Amino acid sequence: MNAAGVCDYTRADLDAMQNSSAASFVTKSATVSPREGNPEPRYRDTAWGSINSMGLPNFGLSYYLSYVSQAQQEQPEKTYFVSISGFSAEDDVALLNQIYQSDFNGIIELNLSCPNVVGKPQTGYDFETVAHVLDTVFAQFTRLPLGVKLPPYFDLVHFDQMAAILNRYPLAYVNSVNSIGNGLLVNPHSETVLIKPKHGLGGIGGAYLKPTALANVFAFRQRLKPEIQIIGTGGVQSGVDVFEHILCGADMVQVGTALHQEGVAVFERLTRELRNIMAGKGYRKIDDFKGKLKTLD
Ligand code: FUM
Repeated sequence: MNAAGVCDYTRADLDAMQNSSAASFVTKSATVSPREGNPEPRYRDTAWGSINSMGLPNFGLSYYLSYVSQAQQEQPEKTYFVSISGFSAEDDVALLNQIYQSDFNGIIELNLSCPNVVGKPQTGYDFETVAHVLDTVFAQFTRLPLGVKLPPYFDLVHFDQMAAILNRYPLAYVNSVNSIGNGLLVNPHSETVLIKPKHGLGGIGGAYLKPTALANVFAFRQRLKPEIQIIGTGGVQSGVDVFEHILCGADMVQVGTALHQEGVAVFERLTRELRNIMAGKGYRKIDDFKGKLKTLD
């Protein structure tokens, strides 16, 4: 499926996802009020990945809810995710109330990791706030499955601490990872940054991100209770990348930069490449290798 923020903002994006071979899709992270996002240029692809500082542009939750509620009737065999990104626990409650009052009958992704809104730190790096948000959310909303989109972590202690918090809740899944926040890509010819917001700083995706994403999937799979599933996101450009995410413990895989670069045809290519890898190894189903990465100790 797509990673939130890619091919999920406009009606044309959503139609492309709905008509694609992806089994699921997620809508652009919605805030309480519609947002224009950051000034352009705010996204650039490079040979190794991408940098973005979109700033959560979105048409508001009701836009995405009404699209997905209709899409569910047209293609009930697809699984639909709606992503929300409040700027406080109160915002999240307001967004969830709106979802619970709608016809939506899918999965909710609570984005705790957008690195691109000036003045709004990434919630996922503030462990007390994560616990407060999840306490608040799960005190009231348990009917629909809900997962969280996390930023990348880089320290074993942070994996331990975050997993201990997440294990307290009936989370459907953890999505690791969002982009590496506030990286900087430079054009050495023009001697400039690539994007306008935040003096050029933005979230780094694509191949740059894969080792970090795999480490997060692997580390969380070792620490989370088994009923919390994991979506692996980061650096998925080929069937091998999908295979590696699943080997590290991902139950499902999302595609961001490669989807932006290649369009929805990427899903068929990745599926074909994954199937070829599995056939070559004699694997008949995902469970034959999911989470079975071997270590050298
Ligand atoms: O800036 C953005 O809209 C990105 C959001 C995200 O990475 O969650």
